[in-house]
Amino acid sequence: MVDVGSRTGGQFVRDDDQVNSLLAERTRDLVWPSRNQAPAPAGTIYFGGGMPDPAHYPLGVLTELFPEVLHDDDAAAMTYVAEPGYGGLRDVVAARHSQRDGVDVDPTQIAVTNGTAGALVLAAQTFLEPGDVVIVDRLTYHGAVLTFRLAGATVVGAPLDDHGLRADTLEDLLTELQAAGRRVKLVYTIPGCQSPTGRLMPDSRRREVAEVARRSGVVLLYDDTYGDLRYEDGFPPSLLAYAPERTVHLGSFSKTIGPGLRVGWTAAPTNITAAFSRIRTDLGTTPINQRLVARFVEQGYYDAHLARVNLFYRGKRDVMVAALEEHCAPYCRWFVPPGGFFIWLEFPHETVPDLEVLGLEERVAFFGDHHFSVEEPERRGLRLAFGQLPVDDITEGIHRLGRAMARQGAPAE
Ligand SMILES: Cc1ncc(COP(=O)(O)O)c(C=O)c1O
Repeated sequence: MVDVGSRTGGQFVRDDDQVNSLLAERTRDLVWPSRNQAPAPAGTIYFGGGMPDPAHYPLGVLTELFPEVLHDDDAAAMTYVAEPGYGGLRDVVAARHSQRDGVDVDPTQIAVTNGTAGALVLAAQTFLEPGDVVIVDRLTYHGAVLTFRLAGATVVGAPLDDHGLRADTLEDLLTELQAAGRRVKLVYTIPGCQSPTGRLMPDSRRREVAEVARRSGVVLLYDDTYGDLRYEDGFPPSLLAYAPERTVHLGSFSKTIGPGLRVGWTAAPTNITAAFSRIRTDLGTTPINQRLVARFVEQGYYDAHLARVNLFYRGKRDVMVAALEEHCAPYCRWFVPPGGFFIWLEFPHETVPDLEVLGLEERVAFFGDHHFSVEEPERRGLRLAFGQLPVDDITEGIHRLGRAMARQGAPAE
């Protein structure tokens, strides 16, 4: 018999210890740091998530295209689609790679996924066995770390500099791990623009990283979730152009059109794309959304939308930089990113734990470096996201952050 309790408006079943004991160990050990965070007080300005501005979801066009999908495609939109995804979407995604990255990508190299998050799961399930090693940027996206660990892998952080993942220390790390008998299969990196540091990996570094991957016999997982958010010229092509035989490019429409679509993709050599299809158990992502996005891109709306939102986000970035200069300059340094949603602040000393507390008192919150660290965090860095917030909140939030820093009184060196 289970113990049945009650609360206003209904009944609920109390936690059962026997059932709890059946939960896999990893459901207790492996959690996102942000999911343990206490809710911030009301009125707090939150620079946390890497979200687009809801005011810029292209709802008008999507509302027009949605009935067209149901009307023109009718039954096809409502049934399962073969594993790699809807052909029309794979065509436009492949064409965009050829156009944007100057690299020939065939539609057979594309698999449509449940966002980049779904692509990471697919890659982890396809490549990793317990005990394998994945090397990641020392500061990185925790969802990826969790995905690799859930697959039984050991995740090791590799040093970053102003150009992203360092190729020399990556090679040393690979050599060391391989000499110790460890099987390193994947190097996961976010070259442009990096989350959380906002760094863009230049052409020369991409060449070096590709060469290191080749010499060490590993696959490169290139997370390009923010890759179409570009506020300056000079973005080098995807790593697909540098190491086409061993790069899995992870792309997404989440940050540009909207995360609610859950439409992302992988572009990879055909042997890897075929392996994805062989092991896939999710029966694909929703065909309706795949068709909606295909039309949105095909009919030129995506490029027009990107041109508009990139101008707009560049403006928000500049507002944040101006506010940082006004309120925070004595206390920290920051990097102005050429794209993406994040400005990374660095302090000379361990500053973040106290600043989190003082920030909440001033009603401003952010993600400290422990949200992104695989190794022991230094607690000297924090990430500010500028995509989602209205401009006035950005200005006011940075003003509050400056007050918290002034109370802490630790000047930058
Ligand atoms: C670096 C990075 N990769 C992947 C994801 C997941 O994105 P998607 O919505 O495409 O699954 C995120 C989401 O914030 C991210 O920041």
